[in-house]
Amino acid sequence: MGDVFRKVERKGSSSVKWDYHVQGDQVPFTIADSDYASPKCILNALTKRVKAGHFGYSKNGDDYLEAIKNWYHKKHACEIQSKWVLPTSNVLTACKIALESIGYRGDRVIIMPPVYSSFYNLLENLERKIVCCDLINDNEKYRIDFVKLEELFKRGNHILLLCSPHNPVGRVWRRDELEKLSELCAKYSVTIISDEIHSDFILGSNKFISMLEFNEVHRQLYVLSAPTKTFSLAGLLSAYLIVPDENNRNSCQKTLTRNCCSVVNILAATATKEAYTNPEAFEWVQKQNEHILKNYQTVKEYLAKYLPEAKLPEQEGTYVLWLNLKCLDKSSAEIVDLLAKGGVLVNSGKSYGADYDGYIRWCVACSQKQLKEGLKRFVRVLGAGKKR
Ligand SMILES: Cc1ncc(COP(=O)(O)O)c(C=O)c1O
Repeated sequence: MGDVFRKVERKGSSSVKWDYHVQGDQVPFTIADSDYASPKCILNALTKRVKAGHFGYSKNGDDYLEAIKNWYHKKHACEIQSKWVLPTSNVLTACKIALESIGYRGDRVIIMPPVYSSFYNLLENLERKIVCCDLINDNEKYRIDFVKLEELFKRGNHILLLCSPHNPVGRVWRRDELEKLSELCAKYSVTIISDEIHSDFILGSNKFISMLEFNEVHRQLYVLSAPTKTFSLAGLLSAYLIVPDENNRNSCQKTLTRNCCSVVNILAATATKEAYTNPEAFEWVQKQNEHILKNYQTVKEYLAKYLPEAKLPEQEGTYVLWLNLKCLDKSSAEIVDLLAKGGVLVNSGKSYGADYDGYIRWCVACSQKQLKEGLKRFVRVLGAGKKR
């Protein structure tokens, strides 16, 4: 298994993570972008398609839509119809499309910090007003603040951008939590945009529940997802919206057409179909989750040994870890800077929410060797709990 998740050389490959962020011999644990190769069956399918030697106009036909439907069935035991699926380039585009189909500039959109930093940029660029309903942090166990959420709904905030599983705190929302959420949204006519891009990274005995399971309770639902994080394919660009309601879907399709972004390119579509239908790719995902869990445990062991005051939530899903380093009495910016000087790149907690100074985010979708090198450097810079 270690072999499967060995590091591939990414320097010199136009990688955002390795060619645009790194200086000298720094090791990056920043962008949620894995540092090992895609499954062999996908590489073979791509090679075969490249060998065909032509890349003319193509369409995402029934086989492509069926592949996504079958993945939701096989991976998540969730039944969807292939006609609900609308292809597009990436999840942030899908989110833009959903927002533009639902409403207008000036709309208030609820998010739950600490949350994926690009949600802030996207909403600001689209001139939406960000309304925060921070997660409740109960000693690094995060949960939804339903009381505050209901107050916000009562005050007329009618769009919720959900991150499920939640980047960066690693929560996999349970069925009872999502059921409560969908009932509350139905009661106040709140539209849910559920970003499920991390849904294939589910650790241990946790189970991913798609918001689509509550589609009968609440029809105002837009689910966004992609095979890109799961299978190391982000540079190819492949994503989709799943919109069960016909009127909403038609409106989304019009917005996609108006924005000229309603097609997944031929190589991305080839990779997506292979990823979602080949049993080898399915098994690879299971192994990847075991590998991520092992990496999480390695980080936990290092922290317990060298920086026991640091706090780390139980990791239920995703491949990003959320470290509370408030014990160091430093800002996130100072910690990020110290680590960068010591050869390790991580994300500042503050980019996920104003109140998260002293936190950092660490992506562990890498080989054990790379992780341990990063941890060795981390310990050299911040270890033994010293206040510097
Ligand atoms: C929750 C979440 N949504 C969306 C994205 C971006 O997806 P895409 O590259 O398909 O726009 C990320 C990437 O880190 C993410 O973590």
